[in-house]
Amino acid sequence: MTDRKPLIAGNWKMHMRRGEAALLAGAVAAASREAENVDVAVFPPFTAIDAVATAARGSRVIVGGQACHYAEKGAHTGEISAGMLLDAGCTMVLCGHSERRAAGVSDEGVGDRVRSALAVGLRPIICCGETLEEREAGQTAEVLLRQMGAALDGIAWHQLDRVDLAYEPVWAIGTGRTATPQVAEKAHATLRKWMVEKFERHGEAPRILYGGSVKPSNAKELLATAGVNGVLVGGAALDAGSFREIMLSA
Ligand code: PGA
Repeated sequence: MTDRKPLIAGNWKMHMRRGEAALLAGAVAAASREAENVDVAVFPPFTAIDAVATAARGSRVIVGGQACHYAEKGAHTGEISAGMLLDAGCTMVLCGHSERRAAGVSDEGVGDRVRSALAVGLRPIICCGETLEEREAGQTAEVLLRQMGAALDGIAWHQLDRVDLAYEPVWAIGTGRTATPQVAEKAHATLRKWMVEKFERHGEAPRILYGGSVKPSNAKELLATAGVNGVLVGGAALDAGSFREIMLSA
């Protein structure tokens, strides 16, 4: 169970028109053939999911949504349901990215979204992470476990092989400031210990990715860090060459 295939995931955020997205997805698909020892996933903006799913068809590239709503359908202007992501060609979804939390999604709201994703058969990647203020106040472990506790509320042990987690310190996202391997190792160990206490051996199933200013120059060291089972890459995932290097450094 601890033999986890690393996941290299690219979060494209609010970048890429459909044409550029299809080209990048094609390049990622080609590069993924050189990196058979890893799983590869991309998270395009909603409008490009269909184009990316088409470009990635027949390859090993997994396509995911960057967020979903908790409801199956209804009067939620501007929102997208988990079922709609599935319909558009996704098999994964990010839940609780710090940029969604900053836009108003609560800890409990992340849990609702995780349950709605699992209900339709999407694999959630549940993100957690502390702010700089929280880290400096010595609250890192407390914040991570509070966020994860709410996100996994109501999730049964047998669903855990359909879930991945991501540790993304908010102070490292888009700042160029990466967590040191020591910082990542400690946070990942905190999460894993808690998972195993809560779910016994089933808590070993989810991969725990690191995210926050991952780039070709630091990917190898981070991926070799104890407890790091993959990376969630933002900025560097927008460049085919950089993302390929990160894939190959696993
Ligand atoms: P970054 O973003 O690699 O640009 O820091 C990571 C993320 O937000 O997932």
